[in-house]
Amino acid sequence: MKILVTGGAGFIGSNLVDALAQNESYEILVADDFSSGTRANLAQHAANPRVRVVELDIRDKQRVREIMRGVQRVYHLAVQCIRVSIRDPYLVHDVNVTGTLHLLTAALDENVERFVYCSSSEVYGTAQRVPMNEDHPLVPTTPYGASKLAGEVYARSFYETYGMPVTIVRPFNTYGAREHFEGPYGEVIPKFVVRALNDAPLVIFGDGSQTRDFTHVSDTVRGLLAAGECDALIGDVVNIARGQEVNINTLARLVLETLPQSKSKIEYQAPRPGDVLRHYADISKAQRVLGFEPRVEIHQGVKRYVDWLMRSEVDPREMLQKEKLRNWE
Ligand SMILES: NC(=O)c1ccc[n+]([C@@H]2O[C@H](COP(=O)([O-])OP(=O)(O)OC[C@H]3O[C@@H](n4cnc5c(N)ncnc54)[C@H](O)[C@@H]3O)[C@@H](O)[C@H]2O)c1
Repeated sequence: MKILVTGGAGFIGSNLVDALAQNESYEILVADDFSSGTRANLAQHAANPRVRVVELDIRDKQRVREIMRGVQRVYHLAVQCIRVSIRDPYLVHDVNVTGTLHLLTAALDENVERFVYCSSSEVYGTAQRVPMNEDHPLVPTTPYGASKLAGEVYARSFYETYGMPVTIVRPFNTYGAREHFEGPYGEVIPKFVVRALNDAPLVIFGDGSQTRDFTHVSDTVRGLLAAGECDALIGDVVNIARGQEVNINTLARLVLETLPQSKSKIEYQAPRPGDVLRHYADISKAQRVLGFEPRVEIHQGVKRYVDWLMRSEVDPREMLQKEKLRNWE
């Protein structure tokens, strides 16, 4: 089975490649432009002939067609992120929407057996009711959320029009090893941990009552894999999440409890544009259709992240010196 993972050098993508590589019958092709992902995220596969990494910008329609040759399953994760979308919605549209269309048309011509579109809980916008099931209204609050939704709508239309075997997965906020902690790609858990390790303030945008359904990357990856193998989800969509609501004040306290030697304090700043206020997933469909059960509690996941960071080659102290980390967006 030849499997294409777009964005496979990124945070979730590289964790997905790790899981796929365990199956000896899989040949994995990673396509990434390395704009936020890194080759270092895939260094563990350097000696594995079943994992091939190619540089590809998914906006390049012709090259997308070439890369797609012989591919049987696609996990499409390549993306430009939320903070970039606020400064440059055109770029994010080109990558997240037009790039997705290039992949869909190439996959259609190649008769792929399954196209897994990795969407995002951001397509829902702020919760209008909780927990949020797959029928929750789709009212994204950022250009990023809009672009992820446009990608979904295209993917679904390829199922409706051409009968292409498409599955849409909506992961909620995912965290864990290799998550970005700097610049516009940085996410809250790594930022809090790096700041706490440096006794720097943990900055909360808004009053900290906003919630997320933090999902450990190992659970997100299991959900993506299961969805890609489930025929009942062809032409359909599924949430993948922990199924637990955690507010940002609680998260900040949890990080400080995990690092009790830290002298960091919590600092509040003005809310950020487009931030959703509440996210809490209903995962009953994933449980019913995929037999999916999340395994990692938030306190375990934060501890695992800290342990990974301490073992990794990145030095959080050095990282904080870098201007880009101070440039919080
Ligand atoms: N991280 C989360 O909390 C989260 C939550 C829900 C959904 N998702 C979805 O999961 C997927 C992966 O997200 P992530 O958090 O790992 O992000 P990431 O930024 O770590 O990974 C995205 C990858 O796409 C690559 N990329 C960007 N533009 C590209 C282009 N033009 N051509 C080829 N590759 C390109 C980047 O270099 C990077 O490796 C995305 O589809 C995202 O929408 C993420």
